[in-house]
Amino acid sequence: MATLAEKTAIVTGGARGIGAGMATVMAREGARIAIFDLDGETAKQTAEALGNGSFGLACDVAVGTEVKAAVDAAAAQLGGLDILVNNAGAGRAPLDPTVTRPTGGGGNVADMEQDSWDEQLSQNLRTTFVTSKAAIPHLRARGGGAIVSIASIAGLIASPTLPAYAAAKAGVISLTKSLALDLAGDGIRANAICPGFLWTRAWEGLATGLKMSVPAYRDADPRDIFLEVVKRGVPLGREQTPEDIGELAAFLASDAGRNITGQWIAVDGGITLRQA
Ligand SMILES: NC(=O)c1ccc[n+]([C@@H]2O[C@H](COP(=O)([O-])OP(=O)(O)OC[C@H]3O[C@@H](n4cnc5c(N)ncnc54)[C@H](O)[C@@H]3O)[C@@H](O)[C@H]2O)c1
Repeated sequence: MATLAEKTAIVTGGARGIGAGMATVMAREGARIAIFDLDGETAKQTAEALGNGSFGLACDVAVGTEVKAAVDAAAAQLGGLDILVNNAGAGRAPLDPTVTRPTGGGGNVADMEQDSWDEQLSQNLRTTFVTSKAAIPHLRARGGGAIVSIASIAGLIASPTLPAYAAAKAGVISLTKSLALDLAGDGIRANAICPGFLWTRAWEGLATGLKMSVPAYRDADPRDIFLEVVKRGVPLGREQTPEDIGELAAFLASDAGRNITGQWIAVDGGITLRQA
């Protein structure tokens, strides 16, 4: 029996990358899914490919009013909501070959503009707050449910070149614990996943930034730069995949995880064992 049979879910930022991988695994386990993404067209295509009545819609999950309308509409179309996956984040920066720094707002605190700080907190932490806030009444109406939020290993370790992103992801872990205690009486569980190194559009941008800014990488292909980072940094010696994250998200959202709440789990091949 599929672990998420009869369940419904919203996956934010699910048009591609980790979100699409999680949606694929959760649909395989029986869930019907509404994919929210800035890129509404790709969200629709990704959802249709799941082939089980899942659907996609355009939504900027950093904007509270937009999110509430989208969550209400999706819950109505799904016939209720059991699971929220807060995944959208970090991915707004375009892959721009003219940039000379990593995309996604890298740079240390002394060099960072306040606007960049605010933007990254909004993209990576406010998104989790506003979508959870909009989903809670629907999860309560169902008599319980699960929230799974995607943080990052950057939220667990010192990240001097990505301080705003790292602070936002540490905030996602903290918010997860607060939600878990606040909502335990409603039968709603909240957990976070900290992915390690995954070859998605986000890392393509980072590797392109490294190519531009690190002389030793000037002639290297971004994918090879990524594989070099994996080789040096991951004790298990391999990159993580969106499906790896999806397997854990599906487990945490299912009844098999019914006594797990307020936790974060790294899916990182051991990266943080060396850096914690
Ligand atoms: N790739 C990695 O190695 C890695 C590691 C740790 C954590 N993460 C986290 O995983 C999540 C997914 O990252 P990814 O690597 O799949 O990135 P990605 O850029 O490949 O995909 C992100 C998706 O989210 C959407 N999105 C971004 N902001 C949005 C918003 N405000 N509203 C709606 N949709 C939005 C984008 O359009 C895109 O489809 C992010 O929260 C990221 O911080 C990624």
